[in-house]
Amino acid sequence: MKSVTQSLFAFAVLAGVAVSGASAFAAEVKGAAPSDPALVEKIRQSNAACYGCHTEQGLKAPPRADLDLEKLRQLVHDPAQFDASNHAGMECTVCHGQGYKAFPHAAGAKQSISECGECHATKALRIETQFEASVHAKNFKEQFTCRTCHDPHAFRVAAKLGDPHKIVAQDNAMCVGCHNSDLRFALFSASVTPQKVRPDLDTLHAWLPNTRLHWQAVRCIECHTPTSPVKSLGMSHEILGKDKAEKNCVTCHSQETALATRLYRFAAENGTADLGFANAAILDSAYVVGATRNPIVDRTVGVLFGLTVAVLLGHGALRIALALIRRRRSS
Ligand code: HEC
Ligand code: HEC
Ligand code: HEC
Ligand code: HEC
Ligand code: HEC
Ligand code: HEC
Ligand code: HEC
Repeated sequence: MKSVTQSLFAFAVLAGVAVSGASAFAAEVKGAAPSDPALVEKIRQSNAACYGCHTEQGLKAPPRADLDLEKLRQLVHDPAQFDASNHAGMECTVCHGQGYKAFPHAAGAKQSISECGECHATKALRIETQFEASVHAKNFKEQFTCRTCHDPHAFRVAAKLGDPHKIVAQDNAMCVGCHNSDLRFALFSASVTPQKVRPDLDTLHAWLPNTRLHWQAVRCIECHTPTSPVKSLGMSHEILGKDKAEKNCVTCHSQETALATRLYRFAAENGTADLGFANAAILDSAYVVGATRNPIVDRTVGVLFGLTVAVLLGHGALRIALALIRRRRSS
């Protein structure tokens, strides 16, 4: 059975490559890390030259005396983070251009930093269509780009991270880093009239019990994007306003949990099915109430879940009642 699945998978991969053309083949992406040891060493040395200044160490012991250290402090990078990213093994100058090789850097060097689409044409094109339909692209046009969310020195795709908790932490940091920062939010909202005051995330989601737990266990995009029509992407970039957001608990808290094809798809691919759970991967990392297929566990937790919701509803009703009483007393 397994080998049939495997050969079907291999066939699907081959078919995919044939259809999308050679340009989509990973090894041919511009600047791809080489395997030849001599070339690897050459790249390491080339990057070490940049790290000579652009690291904590460079800041402590600058190789030259004429550096603007205050500016450099804002431009410090972590080699370990880069080595764990999607772009590990690449030469800095592939994206940054030759203008950064010498110091002082060339005057127009910044304009020649490569855009994502220059190297990821096929994928970027599909993502761009979804991104163009998002609230951010519509409201902010050129100001909001791929780089506003993606740090090319740090970003790791979900498939590489695997662990749902790590995926959630990385992805939500992109959104929260702006939606929870008055300073950063204002940089963007200033261009819409009348300027939008940053709404508080917890207040916006007060209807969601255990809000903080949800922030750690699910991604913002799970509720704020439709399912992607492009299956291979596993997510959509089409972030929409509140009327299109997911409010239905059962979408996740059920046996047909939407998370199985989204957040958990990478864990599910590697997950073990030996426990007899249809959604074993979910059980491995977290127990999502209602999403497994073991009747005993489900019934037990179902009762607990029902109790929690009942307590929450009771709590809400109590607050309303108290408020009414208070209002009556004060009038
Ligand atoms: C100069 C070329 C270049 C540029 C510019 C570039 N990349 Fe990459 N990228 C690569 C190479 C090479 C790889 C590693 C080979 C591979 O896995 O495709 C890679 C890998 C990736 C991967 C993991 C593989 C995948 O496709 O899932 C992601 C995600 C990614 N890049 C996103 C981005 C984003 C987002 C940007 C813009 C901020 C960007 N890249 C800019 C060359 C580039
Ligand atoms: C001798 C120290 C030194 C080296 C080596 C160095 N840089 Fe810089 N870099 C700086 C300083 C200082 C700045 C702050 C702005 C300025 O003074 O130009 C800077 C600024 C930058 C910026 C922001 C520039 C902008 O245009 O706003 C980038 C990007 C950059 N460097 C990339 C690189 C890359 C890539 C390398 C390696 C190829 C590199 N640097 C090597 C010192 C260095
Ligand atoms: C895949 C492309 C890519 C690679 C590889 C890459 N960079 Fe960058 N880098 C960018 C982009 C794009 C920006 C501009 C980010 C922005 O303006 O938001 C940038 C910005 C910078 C900056 C200035 C802004 C900041 O936040 O510090 C520095 C310094 C820098 N890179 C250093 C490096 C060094 C050192 C390496 C190699 C270890 C490297 N980069 C490799 C794409 C890349
Ligand atoms: C509002 C923030 C945001 C913007 C803007 C954005 N992205 Fe993303 N992107 C994300 C999130 C969140 C993910 C999910 C990361 C993951 O789990 O892999 C992602 C995933 C990706 C992936 C990996 C998909 C995969 O194969 O798993 C690529 C490639 C990518 N984005 C490219 C782009 C490009 C190109 C643009 C610009 C057209 C862009 N992104 C704009 C937030 C953003
Ligand atoms: C750099 C800042 C920034 C980042 C990063 C960012 N946003 Fe936003 N976002 C904004 C601003 C500013 C608005 C207000 C737009 C408006 O109302 O005109 C907004 C609007 C929204 C809205 C719709 C609100 C409305 O009024 O219609 C949603 C939903 C949203 N963002 C979710 C996300 C998610 C999910 C992510 C991460 C994948 C994210 N945002 C990343 C700045 C950001
Ligand atoms: C469980 C689903 C869910 C998750 C997870 C979630 N949201 Fe929401 N979000 C919603 C719903 C539903 C609304 C609309 C609430 C309403 O009707 O008042 C909303 C409202 C918003 C709004 C206001 C939209 C508007 O049009 O005014 C923003 C901004 C927002 N969310 C951002 C985020 C960010 C950032 C995250 C991640 C930290 C996140 N959301 C996680 C479901 C979710
Ligand atoms: C986008 C998917 C999603 C949606 C929508 C969603 N949840 Fe959750 N919920 C989760 C995940 C994932 C967890 C974390 C499971 C864990 O780690 O224990 C969770 C945890 C919980 C918990 C805590 C359970 C515990 O273990 O303590 C409660 C209670 C809960 N959700 C209630 C709700 C209610 C009520 C709604 C609808 C208003 C809702 N959720 C909507 C995904 C979702």
